[in-house]
Amino acid sequence: MSKHVVVIRGEDASPEAIDPSVALMRELALPIDWSIAEVGEEAVRNHGAAFPAEARELIDNSDTTLFGATSGASSRALFYLRWGKETFANVRPARWVQGMNSPLADPGSVDFVIVRENLEDLYLFAEGDLESLEVLDLMSPTARKKIHELAPGKFAIKAITEMGSERIARFAFQLAQERKAKGYQGLVSCGTKHNMLPQSDGLFRRVAEHVSQEFHDIEFESFIVDDLAHRLVGDSGHFDVVVLPNLYGDVLSDAAAALAGGLGLAPSGCYGESYAYFESAHGTAPDIAGKNIINPTATLLSGAMMLDYLGFGDSASGLRSAIERVYEKAQVLTPDQGGSASTTDFCSAVESEL
Ligand code: IPM
Ligand code: MG
Repeated sequence: MSKHVVVIRGEDASPEAIDPSVALMRELALPIDWSIAEVGEEAVRNHGAAFPAEARELIDNSDTTLFGATSGASSRALFYLRWGKETFANVRPARWVQGMNSPLADPGSVDFVIVRENLEDLYLFAEGDLESLEVLDLMSPTARKKIHELAPGKFAIKAITEMGSERIARFAFQLAQERKAKGYQGLVSCGTKHNMLPQSDGLFRRVAEHVSQEFHDIEFESFIVDDLAHRLVGDSGHFDVVVLPNLYGDVLSDAAAALAGGLGLAPSGCYGESYAYFESAHGTAPDIAGKNIINPTATLLSGAMMLDYLGFGDSASGLRSAIERVYEKAQVLTPDQGGSASTTDFCSAVESEL
């Protein structure tokens, strides 16, 4: 039975990465029906809304979505794919391959995965005026004032739930088990600011530790997140699966991408109980829009994660190996990797390797 993939092209340089990547995956001749969902400015023109019902229905009737990057116009669609579809686990592998432009002298050990909680924390759009908190009568022991007395100013709510922490922790341990079966060490490292946030981050950490007791074959460790950031850069080879609350995961996954050689290389997949979608970790690269030089590796590797999810594991492996060979040969690389090839040249090189 064929699978249905929705493509959302995104803004700025994003379509320049998405279009040739989709063309390349079509060449694999898999039983996949591809359709493009119109969202953003195009959808406003044609349907009168940035995220029209047509796009939502396409997503609802699909097996998965490949999302480009958004600078804002497509963000309603992104929010639907995350919160609407409850894709709570954002998986962001950082893996260096010979030929990638890592800033590290010895990047060979960069091969870990960030598992970022994708729905909670500071991502609830719950902000407001400090004055409005007067009803809560909350004391800040550090400022030694009531919170509303700090006004004028703004607050943001950070919410960490037991359920959200438990399901992301379990997801991270299960991923560590899958990786262990492939020869990885079987380690989950947790990062939180539990010294300053003993309740919210403390809960995330306690739940992760509790869940770790169900997984006897996987080791567990936990760091204060600033220390973890330092270790990720200074001792990357130590890490296997790193589980983080939403905002730290957002920040550290970009840093992790830099370790491998840049955001142009960093794929991601967002998984829920009944839906998953795939997107590169990078933004829309407006500075290079229209130049056909955006590195499509992040999109192609996200595509490989998507093919795995759809049950086309062999094609996913084939695609990954083909990309790796292009890097190893280092003849057709985009400018961010020190080459002078265009996006479409790079995709053609991958296609030849296939
Ligand atoms: C990411 C992006 C998003 C995030 C933005 C576009 C909302 O930075 O996927 O990492 O913060 O999650
Ligand atoms: Mg980000």
